Amino acid sequence: MSTLKVAIAGATGYAGEELIRILLQHPSIQLTHLAASAKWDRPVALADVFPRFAGQLDLSVESLDPARLASSCDVAFLALPHGVSMDVVPILLKAGRRIVDLGSDFRLRDSAAYAQWYGKPHTHPELLAEAVYGIPELSKEAIARARLVANPGCYATSIILALAPLLRAKLVEREWMVVDAKSGLTGAGRKAEPSMMFSEMNENLWPYKVNHHQHTPEVEQALAPFAGAGGVSLCFVPHVVPMNRGILSTMYLRLAKTATWDDVHATYRDFYREAPFVRLRPQNQWPKIHDVAGTNYCDLAWTVDQAKRGLIVTAAIDNLLKGAAGQAVQNLNVMAGWPETTGLCA
Ligand SMILES: NC(=O)c1ccc[n+]([C@@H]2O[C@H](COP(=O)([O-])OP(=O)(O)OC[C@H]3O[C@@H](n4cnc5c(N)ncnc54)[C@H](OP(=O)(O)O)[C@@H]3O)[C@@H](O)[C@H]2O)c1
Repeated sequence: MSTLKVAIAGATGYAGEELIRILLQHPSIQLTHLAASAKWDRPVALADVFPRFAGQLDLSVESLDPARLASSCDVAFLALPHGVSMDVVPILLKAGRRIVDLGSDFRLRDSAAYAQWYGKPHTHPELLAEAVYGIPELSKEAIARARLVANPGCYATSIILALAPLLRAKLVEREWMVVDAKSGLTGAGRKAEPSMMFSEMNENLWPYKVNHHQHTPEVEQALAPFAGAGGVSLCFVPHVVPMNRGILSTMYLRLAKTATWDDVHATYRDFYREAPFVRLRPQNQWPKIHDVAGTNYCDLAWTVDQAKRGLIVTAAIDNLLKGAAGQAVQNLNVMAGWPETTGLCA
């Protein structure tokens, strides 16, 4: 395997920290540049930001300068807040770099939808059609060719992996698909907000952005090709729970035809025959966050209620790995033509 030079912008955030950790173990990556916001007036040693990396990587974190970022690498990971990547990506593309963007700037194909869901106009709508929405289990060939991969949202990954096979097999009705999801606190990024304080979060639980979370349109967009005419309609209620990491999404679905637990199993098994990071649970064995935390796996389990024509599916992932940094490295592996498990311990 040849070695690629890789830079990370947003290196001091939760997703950036996980990217550094994974890429230090990757056999074909050389980390060459780390960038974050402009809060320091000079570069700061990585070991001073994250003492866990002391002795492992002799790099400093610098203020983000897109031209410097472009000159430092073959491939850049962008783990930046939404609205920041869209002005960095064109500079990287012009310099001939390939990009995996962990943020949301290039996930939606429609610039009007971006403005509606993210509250500001897109500054480079001409690039939206080119970006490949990066779920390797669904779009490996397009990812392999892509210059720009839009790494999916964390909730979105868990929901899409659970629903795409069922829709393609026409096993479930595509209207009013109800999703109840719980996320650990790192899903909100490393920022100080009163609602994120220990005293607010501990022994507490609440829904937020009920039926208007910004991952709704990217899920509907990604599932549309599997659902056929009319697409899908999602009812999505996310919750934040007092744990550090992990997402558990439970989907309440109406069967479109008679099906047993075994029929659903066969559908998932065939769809994910060559997907090393999707695991199907045995009947009556439901995934826990601890089963997937620290891994790039998505665990799926389900039950069928024949009398009520109901199908309930649960998907569990680590929001920072299969929901962010792990999937981003999986995408890079596909882009580089390496085994998709490289550095990810499947
Ligand atoms: N957390 C998750 O579970 C998760 C899952 C999927 C996708 N994502 C997406 O991944 C991205 C990063 O998420 P995160 O949770 O790692 O966020 P985070 O912990 O808040 O980190 C954000 C990073 O971006 C840097 N940054 C902020 N504003 C900047 C600017 N104007 N210019 C340059 N750098 C800037 C920060 O640097 P400073 O430290 O210097 O401020 C920090 O390194 C977001 O788009 C998020 O939506 C996150």
